[in-house]
Amino acid sequence: MHYILAILFILVSQVTWAEEDREEPKKMDWAFNGVFGKFDRNSIQRGLKVYKEVCSVCHSLNKVAFRNLADIGFSEEEVKAFAASYNIQDGPNDEGEMFERPGKPSDHFPPPYANEQAARVSNNNNALPPDQSLIVKARHGGADYIYSLLTGYSKPPADFKLGENMYYNPYYSGGGKQFSMIPPLITDGQVVFDDGTPATIDQMARDISNFLQWAAEPEMEERKSLGIKTMIFTLIFTVFFYFAKKHIWGRIK
Ligand code: HEC
Repeated sequence: MHYILAILFILVSQVTWAEEDREEPKKMDWAFNGVFGKFDRNSIQRGLKVYKEVCSVCHSLNKVAFRNLADIGFSEEEVKAFAASYNIQDGPNDEGEMFERPGKPSDHFPPPYANEQAARVSNNNNALPPDQSLIVKARHGGADYIYSLLTGYSKPPADFKLGENMYYNPYYSGGGKQFSMIPPLITDGQVVFDDGTPATIDQMARDISNFLQWAAEPEMEERKSLGIKTMIFTLIFTVFFYFAKKHIWGRIK
């Protein structure tokens, strides 16, 4: 009975995939994959630059504070300087006015638009660019999906009906193989990386995916190392109890 149910489940889930009308994200070999996975901090720092210079024009990153950048290798001074490169709206002051001041490490990345309506009128088809803080967790395929989406724009097949102001992208999570985001990474060298890495489209797509993975789960390394410690601990105790049991029951027999 269980076998039949399992087979049915597999069949049904396959059919669901086929009906989804989207490509499965490409499987990438990320440094953070696996039980021993670690963040590639150089790539994450480059990804931050891609976010700042490209994606942040339309996408907010509400949950990340500048001081979190210490996690990816920024010194205290670097965090301060990076934060100060942003203008943050604050207030109201004693006159009841809002005002702008340079960012501080405790501030979060400021959003590109004042509100949802402003974001919608500025984008194709009134589409809303989602906040990117947790986008990796919110989409099937995570970082694989972000990478595939960014590098997946292509010419539609001849018989494809492309909507107005829509772009063909077979990976789009919403299905239908088209959506409203203008291809954001369009040419090699669109940003200049501080570490001299050539900014090919492929490289920028990898780096922003690594960055967004970190943004969505900055505590990943701790979680994995805790998992390994727990496994070792359990193993030692299993061996210990095995011998303890042998010892105790051995005497009774
Ligand atoms: C010109 C504005 C603009 C820029 C720049 C931009 N995006 Fe978008 N993005 C959008 C809009 C609008 C949507 C919503 C599209 C829709 O719902 O059809 C979107 C949606 C997305 C989605 C969600 C797709 C889904 O499955 O729902 C991801 C992921 C994304 N963008 C990543 C990025 C990344 C990474 C960058 C920078 C490399 C970037 N975007 C730059 C406007 C932009």
